[in-house]
Parts: sequence; structure tokens; C-alpha cells
Amino acid sequence: MKVLMVNGSPHKNGCTYTALTEVAEMFHKEDINTELFWIGNKSISGCIACKACIEKKKCVFQDSVNEFLDLAENCDGFVFGTPVHWGGALGAITSFLDRVFYADLNGGGNRFLLKPASTVISARRAGTTAT
Ligand SMILES: Cc1cc2nc3c(=O)[nH]c(=O)nc-3n(C[C@H](O)[C@H](O)[C@H](O)COP(=O)(O)O)c2cc1C
Repeated sequence: MKVLMVNGSPHKNGCTYTALTEVAEMFHKEDINTELFWIGNKSISGCIACKACIEKKKCVFQDSVNEFLDLAENCDGFVFGTPVHWGGALGAITSFLDRVFYADLNGGGNRFLLKPASTVISARRAGTTAT
């Protein structure tokens, strides 16, 4: 069994990463494997609703979204991590997930169907509940 853990922070080894590694330790104690996936710190386009994913079975933009979709296929659960930016999840992870789920849905991938997921939110002060 493997859980795919997504670090949605622009910091590869920042606070979100630290929190995710704490969660990963808990999984390891239960003999559950984990893999950490960093979305990177390059700009990530939002979904342009072109619907090319219906034919392509993946996103029309070749970036970390398609890398993640390939990995997601063989994972059994997910933890999505993000820092709070201005009271919400940062734009990059929102754009990333918009495209991940739309490409999966339109391409009939079923990569997430009936698989459990959770979130890890890192903040300095406030905004974790809304995020
Ligand atoms: C643009 C920006 C906006 C932020 N907005 C908030 C906020 O609204 N509330 C808060 O508590 N922290 C806010 N923070 C602080 C981060 O959430 C916090 O430092 C977080 O732990 C960073 O995680 P990271 O090291 O994984 O990037 C903001 C940081 C940045 C860069």
C-alpha cells in the first residue's frame, strides 16, 4: 500500500515538507509506504478548459500535473499539503489540482475513485480552516 504525499509549497524543504514528513513517519509505523511529490516552484497554469484531456487522457500542458497523474495511478491514497497564502491555499496548488482532477475525470482515468485523501496545512497565524 502506498500513499502519495504532495508538497504544494514553493519551498521544497520548508514547513509544509516538515509537516508531511511527520505524517509519513506515522504511515511507516503502520507499514504503509509513502512517496513525496513536490509540485515545484515554476509557474503552473490553471485549467484553460480546452478539453483536450478527453482525447489525450492527460493534460495538454506537459508539466508536473502529468507527472503526478502517472504516479497517482499506482497509489492507494493521498495527502495534499499546502502553506496558507493570504487566507487560502496558494494559487499554484489550486491550479495544479484543478488540472489534475479535470484531466482525470475527462480522460476516464479513475485514478482517485474511492481512494482516501487528507490534507496538511502549514501557516504562521491564521487561515488553516478555510484552506
Ligand atoms: C504570500 C504569502 C502569504 C501568506 N499568507 C499567510 C496567511 O494568510 N496566514 C498565515 O498564517 N500565514 C501566511 N503565510 C505564511 C506561511 O503560510 C507559513 O510561513 C508557512 O509555514 C510556509 O510554509 P512553507 O515553508 O512550506 O512554504 C504567507 C506566506 C506567504 C509567502
